[in-house]
Amino acid sequence: MKIEGGCREVCEATEFVAIVSSGENGPHVVGNWGDYMRTLGVTEDTIILPAGHYRQTEQNIHKDNRVQLMVASKKVQGTRSVGQGYLITGTAEIIGSGDIVDTVKAKFPWARGALVIHVEQVNAQL
Ligand SMILES: Cc1cc2nc3c(=O)[nH]c(=O)nc-3n(C[C@H](O)[C@H](O)[C@H](O)COP(=O)(O)O)c2cc1C
Repeated sequence: MKIEGGCREVCEATEFVAIVSSGENGPHVVGNWGDYMRTLGVTEDTIILPAGHYRQTEQNIHKDNRVQLMVASKKVQGTRSVGQGYLITGTAEIIGSGDIVDTVKAKFPWARGALVIHVEQVNAQL
């Protein structure tokens, strides 16, 4: 299962996205806004985010491209209570040119490129 059903509902509602990569100094967490993610469109297996900085993240994923993302919203019903979150696991790359980057820059003129997440697995948290 990738981004569909409950995970899609949470992606439609999450206020922010946490993105974790691994580097020589351990885990590295960066953020993005849920509405930026939605503006660029979430498909079943790809998330595209505007890259303004993400320099450390870029270094990390150059050596180990595995990343984990967390999205969550209290607007989505969880299994037992109000609120749901998803751990999204996949690989990432930062790209600096091409059609995807043209689309990103049209919407976010400050972006230097796109952080593209290739989703492999999603897991409900609550
Ligand atoms: C809610 C939120 C949204 C953010 N949005 C972006 C963004 O759209 N693009 C970006 O490059 N950094 C964004 N940042 C900043 C990153 O978390 C990070 O601090 C910065 O890009 C530096 O990344 P680096 O530590 O990998 O070099 C955001 C941070 C937060 C908390």
